[in-house]
Amino acid sequence: MKTKMSLAHKLKSTAFVTTCSIGAFFGIGIYRNEDQFYDKFLMPIVHMCPPELSHRLAVLGFKYKLFPKQQKIDSERLRTKLFDFTMENPLGLAAGFDKHGESMDGLSRIGFGFIEIGSITPEPQPGNEKPRVFRLIDDKAIINRYGFNSDGHANVFERLSKFRKDDSNIIIGVNLGKNKATEVAYEDYIKGINKFASVASYFVINISSPNTAGLRSLQQADHLKLLLSKVIHTRNKLEQGKRPPIFLKISPDLSHNDVCDIISVISEKECRVDGLIVSNTTIERNECLKSQEKIEVGGLSGAPLKNQSTRLIAKIYIMTEGLIPIIGVGGIFNGQDAFEKITAGASALQLYTSLIFHGPPIVQKIKKELDELLEANGLENVEKARGIQAHILAGEK
Ligand SMILES: Cc1cc2nc3c(=O)[nH]c(=O)nc-3n(C[C@H](O)[C@H](O)[C@H](O)COP(=O)(O)O)c2cc1C
Repeated sequence: MKTKMSLAHKLKSTAFVTTCSIGAFFGIGIYRNEDQFYDKFLMPIVHMCPPELSHRLAVLGFKYKLFPKQQKIDSERLRTKLFDFTMENPLGLAAGFDKHGESMDGLSRIGFGFIEIGSITPEPQPGNEKPRVFRLIDDKAIINRYGFNSDGHANVFERLSKFRKDDSNIIIGVNLGKNKATEVAYEDYIKGINKFASVASYFVINISSPNTAGLRSLQQADHLKLLLSKVIHTRNKLEQGKRPPIFLKISPDLSHNDVCDIISVISEKECRVDGLIVSNTTIERNECLKSQEKIEVGGLSGAPLKNQSTRLIAKIYIMTEGLIPIIGVGGIFNGQDAFEKITAGASALQLYTSLIFHGPPIVQKIKKELDELLEANGLENVEKARGIQAHILAGEK
């Protein structure tokens, strides 16, 4: 009896010590924010969960500030000015991660220069049926067809207003979408502008998500003219000093003529947005994709999107002679990818998929490598690098 008790006791102690050791190992790893730890241990475990569940857990992790605050001060070279904002660095979080504005504080702590929330629809809606997110591990890519699942304007507004009371300095972009059932699309975007004007640093008119029927057709000249004229008019009627800049987020799958049409529309005074976000996800499926999930319907993001979005940035930079600010997004995984987007013509950057694959340390890593590349190329700051390789990256040379 005595030996049995002591064996049970020993087993219990061993289990306790093992659990504590594993807990400590992961706790220290997360606290130290080391990319090796994430890549070798944490992310493979996270990737055992279904993608949407991992996404939800990650949002909660940021909400409850489980990830450590970045301690390092960003290099002077990374400081970026865009409109009236001065960002400590040009790297932002793209829309679609914090769709409902739940974890802005936790996200800003890991070193992003700015955060974009949404897309948000006026009324709450559930989005498409699950499963609706797929990892393409071998391709460093994701396919999603969330279809604008949203908590709706009122709920997100409440969260953002509360957040603004505590912290008014963080740059938070509000990305606006439309409800599935809305027939007159511009009405939903107008509602968004009016609702969030007092709390948004900037707005994004998202008409490029491939997962809402008919949305991308709003990029066609006639539709776009009507939409933008209404949206710009609404913004311009707001109280002076409270008129956030408006970005238009476009698809990477546009034809040359579509791009020319968009540029011509946004050149008109009543449709003049303040900047473009290039780009959203693609519906194209490159022949080189290896993962079997490539057959899933939805928008593809990550590494396979990189060159397509960089080329479009370069093309638009050239066509607009650099006069319109561009936020470059699509497949940024390292400093070289970030450098390419800036030298193609982007003023600032965003990422999403690389955060899913590598976790929070990716933000520090990209910034460090970008800073080293700027220095190695004798470039004083991001602005000095902007567009210097546009002709090459547009494929013209
Ligand atoms: C799961 C997922 C959901 C997304 N949801 C949105 C969205 O709601 N609104 C939007 O404008 N873009 C959305 N995007 C697109 C991203 O903001 C970004 O434009 C695109 O993923 C390319 O960047 P990346 O390659 O760094 O991921 C989503 C992307 C992913 C992967």
